[in-house]
Amino acid sequence: MAPLRLGSVAPDFSAETTTGPIKFHDFIGDSWAVLFSHPADFTPVCTTELGEVAKLAPQFAKRGVKVIGLSTNDLADHDRWVDDINEVNNVNLAFPIIADKDRDVATLYDMLDSVEHDASNVVNGIPFTVRSVFVIDPAKKIRLILTYPASCGRNFDEILRAIDSLQLSDRQPIATPANWQPGGEVIVHVSVSTEKAKQIFPEVREALPYLRFATLPVEEGEEEK
Ligand code: BEZ
Repeated sequence: MAPLRLGSVAPDFSAETTTGPIKFHDFIGDSWAVLFSHPADFTPVCTTELGEVAKLAPQFAKRGVKVIGLSTNDLADHDRWVDDINEVNNVNLAFPIIADKDRDVATLYDMLDSVEHDASNVVNGIPFTVRSVFVIDPAKKIRLILTYPASCGRNFDEILRAIDSLQLSDRQPIATPANWQPGGEVIVHVSVSTEKAKQIFPEVREALPYLRFATLPVEEGEEEK
């Protein structure tokens, strides 16, 4: 299978999840989606990550994003693990977690670690999943891919920030600069002349002929959180 790249259609699949069976494209529907994988149930870093996503669930919902986790255990393990996650993080995890015991979805999305890479993430020669993130848009296109090793928990505020950037750049002819936060200055897209940009944005500041900063109309520049 061709490698998954930005712009690829997210492969469809059927799977058992903690909230019932799904067909992935039907699950996404007209929403955005974040599919994120974990090495295994009952592991410490993953327990903090899933708790964090449960806390941030309203932030994802506000952006029209459905979240769905994946771990390489069965549903019975997932259900017991969710009890631990809820208790230790003081949350009520309600989003689905895919039971990918046979690593079918993990293989489809190339989420498996390499046997040589991290001995702590390989059991009996079988690699577990790494911490993959796929942000998928309503057209089912992959818009962002992250891969973190098992030892490094992800920053889910950064994933929300990146989704804000993606959604904003779908609405406006802009890009976002380093460390951009919602409400901050944006960069006028290279395809837009400075003259045209001055008609679109309230303020345009030309730092270099190819680097034009702009402020957004108030309704776009508002803090999203
Ligand atoms: C963890 O979630 O803590 C973890 C999982 C697999 C390997 C290493 C760490």
